[in-house]
Amino acid sequence: MRKNKLFGRDFISVIDFSTEEIWRIFKLAKSMKANPKKYKNNLDGKIMALIFEKPSLRTRVTFDVGIKQLGGDSVYLSPLEINLGKRESVYDVAKNLERMVNGIMVRTFGHDVATGLADAASIPVINGLTDLEHPCQALADFFTIWEFHKDLTKVKLAFVGDGNNVAHSLMLTAARLGARINIASPEAYTPKKEIVEKAKIVAKKTGAIVHITNDPVEAVKGADAVYTDVWASMGQEKEVEQRKKIFFPYQVNSKLMSSAKKNALFMHCLPAHRGEEVTDEVIDSKNSVVFQEAENRLHVQKAIMHELLRD
Ligand code: CP
Ligand code: NVA
Repeated sequence: MRKNKLFGRDFISVIDFSTEEIWRIFKLAKSMKANPKKYKNNLDGKIMALIFEKPSLRTRVTFDVGIKQLGGDSVYLSPLEINLGKRESVYDVAKNLERMVNGIMVRTFGHDVATGLADAASIPVINGLTDLEHPCQALADFFTIWEFHKDLTKVKLAFVGDGNNVAHSLMLTAARLGARINIASPEAYTPKKEIVEKAKIVAKKTGAIVHITNDPVEAVKGADAVYTDVWASMGQEKEVEQRKKIFFPYQVNSKLMSSAKKNALFMHCLPAHRGEEVTDEVIDSKNSVVFQEAENRLHVQKAIMHELLRD
């Protein structure tokens, strides 16, 4: 049974929010960024459990600071503590936490763990990254693009690299917002077919274009923003060396950026492996917005928590 309040649900996949709901989040995040004090009591006394089964800098800090800036507080649960599904079942964790806190953020491996928590808990559950999706990241990223380009339906985003969780959520967000996204990955590392299909179904309604290719230059041609992410995600540490060889032609360097529009933004969810998926020259260039994206995680997630948790 799905819960809650205003949006009536959790935020596990980008697809959980309609186009209108994403725009409502963006407008609220814009207002919160401009005038944070106005919202300082809006989530008075609300407590978020922050479950991390993988490391984090941005997600941990922005959820913790975000809930506090809204008048609430958080409890951090490290990978060593809950041991979701091993020390205790996902269902039992949900049934405990719903009696103790007002919302859950979960960063974990299997997407089914996040959906399992959300299905069992009567309180909102927010996905802070799974192997399949990173929805808060993608919303913060399109919010960042919106700060530069007022009409997102005219924006062309190129994602170059692994067809991973970040690529999936960017694709679904582009689809919801009517933007164009080109994804260039090596043949065996393209985004999952079921996510591409989902995005294409949404795109038909919104006028978005979702294009998958193996050619980084083709993807980047005329792009307003070029995005990349690590070649080996958390949990894929054993594949690092093998992936380095395969992904090298997909490095975002000045030569590749020269195929994009003049002044195209460079984007990365961070952490970055400088010298691998991106060169220093590009990530430190004047068109790099990586730290603006990181900051916008705070504003966008505050808006998400606000809409999901408030009475
Ligand atoms: N981009 C991002 O989610 O960063 P962390 O892994 O540091 O939270
Ligand atoms: N794809 C990366 C994103 C980190 C924010 C990972 O899952 O490790």
